[in-house]
Amino acid sequence: MDHFAYVDGTLCAENVPLPEIARSVGTPFYVYSTATLRRHFDVFAEGFAGTDTLIAFAVKSLSNIAVLSLLGKRGAGADIVSGGELFRALKAGIPAERIVFSGVGKTEREIADALDAGIGQFNVEGEAELAVLSRVASEKGMTAPVSFRINPDVDAGTHDKISTGRKGDKFGVPRARTFDAYALAEKLPGIRVQGVAMHIGSQITSLAPFEAAARSAVELVGTLRGMGHDIRTLDLGGGLGIPYGRAAEPPPLPSDYAKLIRSVTDGTDIRVMLEPGRMIVGNAGLFVVSMLYAKDQETRTYAIVDGAMNDLIRPMLYGAHHEIMPVTEKDAAATNYDVAGPVCESTDLFARDVALQDPQPGDLLAFRTAGAYGAVSASQYNTRPLVPEVLVDGDRFHVIRRRPSYEDILSLETIPDLSDH
Ligand code: LLP
Repeated sequence: MDHFAYVDGTLCAENVPLPEIARSVGTPFYVYSTATLRRHFDVFAEGFAGTDTLIAFAVKSLSNIAVLSLLGKRGAGADIVSGGELFRALKAGIPAERIVFSGVGKTEREIADALDAGIGQFNVEGEAELAVLSRVASEKGMTAPVSFRINPDVDAGTHDKISTGRKGDKFGVPRARTFDAYALAEKLPGIRVQGVAMHIGSQITSLAPFEAAARSAVELVGTLRGMGHDIRTLDLGGGLGIPYGRAAEPPPLPSDYAKLIRSVTDGTDIRVMLEPGRMIVGNAGLFVVSMLYAKDQETRTYAIVDGAMNDLIRPMLYGAHHEIMPVTEKDAAATNYDVAGPVCESTDLFARDVALQDPQPGDLLAFRTAGAYGAVSASQYNTRPLVPEVLVDGDRFHVIRRRPSYEDILSLETIPDLSDH
């Protein structure tokens, strides 16, 4: 469920017609609905009501500090994967103890910053990282709260590029080395073992892989406790899929996901941690572009729009489908267009055979389900400025990231005084 709907033939974000935003900030832009963000977080959280659960929002999916602040106020923590995301989460007012640091390549500097901030948990991905964490923490006279991310060798049944929990994937500690890793951690200074973590992938559309991973994690917690480790937290990662477009296979309901996790963890007396990203923000965002030109290429007809692969890369990277909707409904026959951007790459193609009703230059088109991994994955390829992000709240909207000027972009660059040959 989201809060984007047609009112008198015009697509609105809550009570704000999208053309009004386009007039104010230009196109392309991302727009998010506060009501949808709140609703999705609350629906997820309600599934775990009455249990000791931390919902650490996966900052990578949508990292604007306005969104982090909104979620933080509702009780969310943050799952971060870089020093930059740590900085954002703290800036947005998320308490450090609710921050979990995931990621397979934490640098010393990032580790030091996270220790200084006093984050709640490091999800350590390997023995070499553990050694660095131990040294940095010891040098500071601090103790790092540690959980190992275990690779459970579960196939999440999702796109190959977003599967993370199979044997041979770069993530986590291989299951076979788990006990040695925990034994090592108990011996190292500056480390306090507190948990087990897993994350098997993203856009997972069936409960079975979650169940397999959770059962294996709970069994592991029991074994580790039996060996004398003080395991208090179980982080089951993120990954719950969402529907992309009408034809898509419906993913499990958050309530069913919660029921499953609760039933598997029931009676373990453990603090459950979850790292949802897409499920909270995916359907809360649209990417809005303007039609530039219709272009007849003999065998195909293109609708060239002003948004491109640098702004929304999911279709090009994962073959992802985003439903494309006209912002203003028309009473005209639809014909098929391939919707493409202006970037000088053939892969800058959002979708083929999109039925559009007589698209004219200046018409606005909205890509649905663009809240997760949209704006955050943008680049400035072709020196196309990052697009603005707008947050709608009832009948008001706020520009939560402005479009940089060309001056802003070039301000990071210098022309050095080079020798003359
Ligand atoms: N926790 C960890 C350790 C992760 O690596 C991820 C996502 C999440 C949580 C959140 O997963 P979610 O609930 O959002 O599925 N760019 C891709 C998705 C990459 C996902 C990376 N990790 C896409 O556009 O589909």
